[in-house]
Amino acid sequence: MLFRRILVLVAALCASAQYTLPPASQAAQDSASGTSDLPSNSTDTASIVQTAQMVNQKSGATDGTPPDLPQDPTQVTAVDGLIMVSNISNSNSTDVPVHRAGKRAPSDYALVFNGNNTYDAAVQGTAYLTYTLVSNASYAEGLAESFTFCDNTPGCVFFNLFYEFNNKYLDSQNSNLKCVAFGDFHSAAEKVAPIAPTVIQNSTGYASLAQTSADVQVVEGYELVFGPISAANNAPGYMGFAFLSKYDPSACAELCNQRGPDAVGGACKYFNIWRALVDGCPTTYTCAMYSAPTNVSTATNTGQGTLSVTLSRGYARQSHIPDGDFEAYICDPPQQTFCFAEKAPGWIGTSPTGGQFDATIFHYAPYSHGGTGVGLLGCAFGSDPQPGTLTPAAPLSGLLPGRAYVVQFFHSSTYSGVQLEAPAFVNVLWNGALVGSVNVGYSPWTFWEFPVTAVGNDTLQFTGGKAPAYDFIDDVYLFLA
Ligand SMILES: *[C@@H]1O[C@H](CO)[C@@H](O)[C@H](O)[C@H]1NC(C)=O
Ligand SMILES: *[C@@H]1O[C@H](CO)[C@@H](O)[C@H](O)[C@H]1NC(C)=O
Ligand SMILES: *[C@@H]1O[C@H](CO)[C@@H](O)[C@H](O)[C@H]1NC(C)=O
Ligand SMILES: *[C@@H]1O[C@H](CO)[C@@H](O)[C@H](O)[C@H]1NC(C)=O
Ligand SMILES: *[C@@H]1O[C@H](CO)[C@@H](O)[C@H](O)[C@H]1NC(C)=O
Ligand SMILES: *[C@@H]1O[C@H](CO)[C@@H](O)[C@H](O)[C@H]1NC(C)=O
Ligand SMILES: *[C@@H]1O[C@H](CO)[C@@H](O)[C@H](O)[C@H]1NC(C)=O
Ligand SMILES: *[C@@H]1O[C@H](CO)[C@@H](O)[C@H](O)[C@H]1NC(C)=O
Repeated sequence: MLFRRILVLVAALCASAQYTLPPASQAAQDSASGTSDLPSNSTDTASIVQTAQMVNQKSGATDGTPPDLPQDPTQVTAVDGLIMVSNISNSNSTDVPVHRAGKRAPSDYALVFNGNNTYDAAVQGTAYLTYTLVSNASYAEGLAESFTFCDNTPGCVFFNLFYEFNNKYLDSQNSNLKCVAFGDFHSAAEKVAPIAPTVIQNSTGYASLAQTSADVQVVEGYELVFGPISAANNAPGYMGFAFLSKYDPSACAELCNQRGPDAVGGACKYFNIWRALVDGCPTTYTCAMYSAPTNVSTATNTGQGTLSVTLSRGYARQSHIPDGDFEAYICDPPQQTFCFAEKAPGWIGTSPTGGQFDATIFHYAPYSHGGTGVGLLGCAFGSDPQPGTLTPAAPLSGLLPGRAYVVQFFHSSTYSGVQLEAPAFVNVLWNGALVGSVNVGYSPWTFWEFPVTAVGNDTLQFTGGKAPAYDFIDDVYLFLA
């Protein structure tokens, strides 16, 4: 190392490019490159459980608010242990992917609990959606209208039907029979007595059988990895959590997309959404975010104390770059720890006229951001100063024309030391047009991202390096923004 530093110094003094041992010779790079593996943080279950005991997401319709208000969008009720309420941008109350509304028959509902005709109580529960007044000419007529109301309320899987007396607001309406829609299932244990003089009677609960929360939830830009099961992930790469007002995987995806990158792990690439039952009652909906994808093998947290995990699903963010982490490239024979090439699974490196090996793929853990594979820009042999181009071997597939995407990657330019790395650079080209540049001279592994718009069969190129100013790139992802 000392020897190489002296070489670097000599090289700088001579203003010559020929004194640094090139990557092709398997030389050690500058010590500050900071190779890294997975971020070490694991799921902070204790904080999630503690916050779940404090948050109150239960509500209902025993007050003077008018009927038939539009639903609130899915809201965040806590972030990383702090209780707060905020709307999720882009979330759309009429676009709830869970339990879509549609015509159901009364037989598609089951009576969950019967009412009490004298002093009863209404449900105060999670995922309150909205309420309406149904005909109070007879309970049976009101019940029939209630089925239709729930059918037509997006997300409704349960309703609570009851008479409400001594409410001045209702005296001015044409009925006092309330049907309250919820986006989750509730029980008689969740009835809360009204405040006098309000009196509630015949408070019954009906659950939808036709559409349940076990239905597959399609989330744009993500793939369902597992679920629903009754265990949550406990895995490394954890970035934090949010509580949601409803079981809304699309809202969780939105939070993952908007989460700021982790310095080591990069962007959010996976989320685990689950429902917390406390003493058997729905209490909150956890959205746990990860910079490293995981799967059912780490879903080991079934709950703690009175809290149990239910409806747990894992979703992985879909990248459109095959082998963006260069890990599929291995040596021949495979036990060899060092090799490089201009072609690797999913990638091609090209050199301009007069250059050779100006863009390559290396299999060598010390050069990699994580694992063993990494892309190199700049002549691997140090024999020419031309910039090379690394590009996915095939046009990118599965992109939706007109949609916004984001190119993300990690970059390092420390190999030759501070002076020689000064001219290091990477240009990011999307369909041949420059969409971003990295011109930071000497720099340890750093996360970069640039927005692009898809047109279909798009191409992505990384051009750069000027040996002995080397640029390494790793963990390249292309995500729907
Ligand atoms: C959330 O959105 C609803 C309806 O769009 C609005 O009434 C409410 O004030 C918003 N809440 C916050 C905390 O921004
Ligand atoms: C919200 O829903 C409406 C109606 O379905 C749709 O036109 C609109 O594009 C949606 N907005 C977002 C941000 O998804
Ligand atoms: C209210 O509930 C009681 C007990 O189930 C029942 O006897 C009574 O008929 C109900 N009232 C109506 C209007 O359905
Ligand atoms: C109905 O309410 C009264 C008064 O609160 C209570 O004493 C009675 O046990 C309840 N009956 C049922 C069947 O829940
Ligand atoms: C029906 O609702 C109206 C309006 O609130 C009320 O005046 C009337 O007493 C209700 N009828 C019954 C049977 O509760
Ligand atoms: C990760 O761990 C560090 C050090 O313990 C801590 O400061 C940080 O808040 C943790 N991040 C998350 C998301 O838990
Ligand atoms: C889960 O992920 C681990 C580590 O990436 C992998 O070894 C395992 O095969 C995966 N299991 C399933 C069921 O996909
Ligand atoms: C992408 O390429 C395929 C195969 O060449 C072609 O069939 C398809 O129409 C192209 N799509 C777009 C959006 O250009």
